[in-house]
Amino acid sequence: MFKQLTAFSIIGLSVLGLAGMAATTPELGRKLTDTDLDSLDVAILPDGQGLPQGQGTAAEGKPVYAVHCASCHGVEGMDGLHDRLAGGVGSISSSRPVKTLGSYWPYATTVFDYVRRAMPFHFPGSLSDDEVYAVTAYLLFLNGIVDESRVLSQTSLPEVKMPNQGNFFWRSFEAEARP
Ligand code: HEC
Repeated sequence: MFKQLTAFSIIGLSVLGLAGMAATTPELGRKLTDTDLDSLDVAILPDGQGLPQGQGTAAEGKPVYAVHCASCHGVEGMDGLHDRLAGGVGSISSSRPVKTLGSYWPYATTVFDYVRRAMPFHFPGSLSDDEVYAVTAYLLFLNGIVDESRVLSQTSLPEVKMPNQGNFFWRSFEAEARP
């Protein structure tokens, strides 16, 4: 019993000790500011909510793609070392589906969101918003979805209809909810 009490006292003292230490931590780091949070809050919804100001065309995106993307995805997005980005339209229901932006992705706004947050793979976040609009336009151009001079921006990008959009269905969880 005495041993147990001693053990508890030691734990108790240690906890008290830790609590005491917490009050005098070395104050590493700094408080997050609204600007810090804004830079992390980059999600873009399918309807375009969250898109930043800026614009670009496929013609402007072609050189951006050549410098920052072609080495991994191939000159025309089809024959690179990494994911294929163009072609494959109509193949999704076949026995050999080829998933690309054109054949599979339901929203053009997601292309912008993904490229801005994740590409180029080795240096995400390095492109300006105008460059992301332009390279998004180029990817859509490679898929035959927009022409070279179509200006994509905060307002026009959400208007782009992707070929496979109609094959995505939203489940209504309210309707399925059990009483
Ligand atoms: C160093 C190689 C590399 C470079 C450069 C690169 N990517 Fe990628 N990319 C990848 C890899 C690897 C993936 C797959 C990532 C994963 O599945 O998590 C990918 C995936 C993608 C996808 C998603 C494809 C899909 O259908 O899932 C897109 C879109 C894309 N990249 C666009 C770009 C664009 C635009 C650029 C240039 C701004 C670029 N990438 C530069 C390696 C690269």
